[in-house]
Amino acid sequence: MTDYSNTIQQHLDRIAKHARDLFGNGHVADYIPALAKVDPNQFGIAVCDLQGNVYQAGDTTTAFSIQSISKLFTLIQALQIYDEELWQRIGREPSGQRFNSLMQLEVEQGIPRNPFINAGALAVCDRLESRCSAPNYQLLELLRELSQNPHLLVNTTVARSELEHGSRNAAMSYLMKSYHNFDNPVEKVLESYAHHCAIEMNCIDLARAALLLCNKGKTLAGREILTQTQSKRVNALLATCGLYDAAGDFAYRVGLPGKSGVGGGIVAIYPGHYSICVWSPELNDAGNSLIGTYALEALTDALGLSVY
Ligand code: DON
Repeated sequence: MTDYSNTIQQHLDRIAKHARDLFGNGHVADYIPALAKVDPNQFGIAVCDLQGNVYQAGDTTTAFSIQSISKLFTLIQALQIYDEELWQRIGREPSGQRFNSLMQLEVEQGIPRNPFINAGALAVCDRLESRCSAPNYQLLELLRELSQNPHLLVNTTVARSELEHGSRNAAMSYLMKSYHNFDNPVEKVLESYAHHCAIEMNCIDLARAALLLCNKGKTLAGREILTQTQSKRVNALLATCGLYDAAGDFAYRVGLPGKSGVGGGIVAIYPGHYSICVWSPELNDAGNSLIGTYALEALTDALGLSVY
């Protein structure tokens, strides 16, 4: 294995410096009004390795709204409970549509294309609601363990703001219910989903939390969160579906499995080596962090990291 540790910090410092020159080229998510209040001129990047080292540059200790990055962890929870049975209700193909599109869901009779578009994540939350006594609390506890940060919290103002402006997610959920692919009360699942999305974590927390996907499903402490096979499969889903209709562009430019959120975070996985979290609130047209994508591309190019 190549030892990048001597150069990785230099690259992060260089990328963080250049990232600041790119401020002003994207737009902060405003369809959830509470997110529009975030200062757009922020950038952080953190890299964790399997020896427990953390490399970082920029605003890495500022907590941000994880938004759709929560979908990665609710998928992990659902796989722990349902394993392959989960795929009776949710597909495993890229959607080629925006993350909150309704079109395909009607055409495909209420079966969401994958667990990372909103419809798929809502279906995952419905599955969790059926089998967990306290899904919100259990997700927060899992994230606290994985990130080694017992202080993680939900921003209830952001959760409420999403619920007040969540008509599309409600529409998707009711559409799935009309096709008998949603078992629990819609309002209950929407509330749970909004609370997952409104969890706040910083770059270091998220890079640490995702490290199990570099380590065949195990934490560095040796606890098996997913089996080796499940971990491989989650990485494949991240690579094909984690960036929605920009998954192809992200694979081309960054070359790693990843998951984005409209809070401006992106988590990327280099299996066997590194987990990375980058954050910058301004988004591109696909709803993914504009500068975050640039930073990941610059880092993987500089270090020659790719799964392809
Ligand atoms: O449901 C929503 O629209 C948001 N809570 C999450 C969407 C999101 O993060 C899409 N990712 N880039």
